[in-house]
Amino acid sequence: MKKIALIAGALLVATSTLSADAFSKCAGCHGANGEKKALGKSHVINTFTKAQIVTAIHGYKDGTYGGSMKGLMKGQVSSLSEADIKYISEKIGK
Ligand code: HEC
Repeated sequence: MKKIALIAGALLVATSTLSADAFSKCAGCHGANGEKKALGKSHVINTFTKAQIVTAIHGYKDGTYGGSMKGLMKGQVSSLSEADIKYISEKIGK
């Protein structure tokens, strides 16, 4: 069963990469649906509201948000457009 779930997960990631999903590059750390603690450090971001996700991403961009690993997240979000941020917040946020 575990193997089947893994294969299904890999297919999902492959599909979202093909459609240039703005969240696909985040999924490796945060999980395909934002359900993981990234590197054991972050909050589980699918428990955030849409607004909290937008605030966090903007904050990482301008250095006003984050913990000890905010430098890493700045690199992740620096190239996101406003449309990408909106898309991600609607996909992952509550
Ligand atoms: C290399 C692993 C990695 C990748 C890739 C990554 N993140 Fe993160 N993310 C983290 C870590 C670690 C933190 C906690 C950073 C800190 O100390 O503030 C974090 C924090 C966050 C937070 C805030 C959660 C909190 O704890 O306050 C959001 C929102 C977020 N990431 C969204 C994204 C998005 C959107 C992407 C893709 C554009 C992304 N991340 C890519 C590792 C990653």
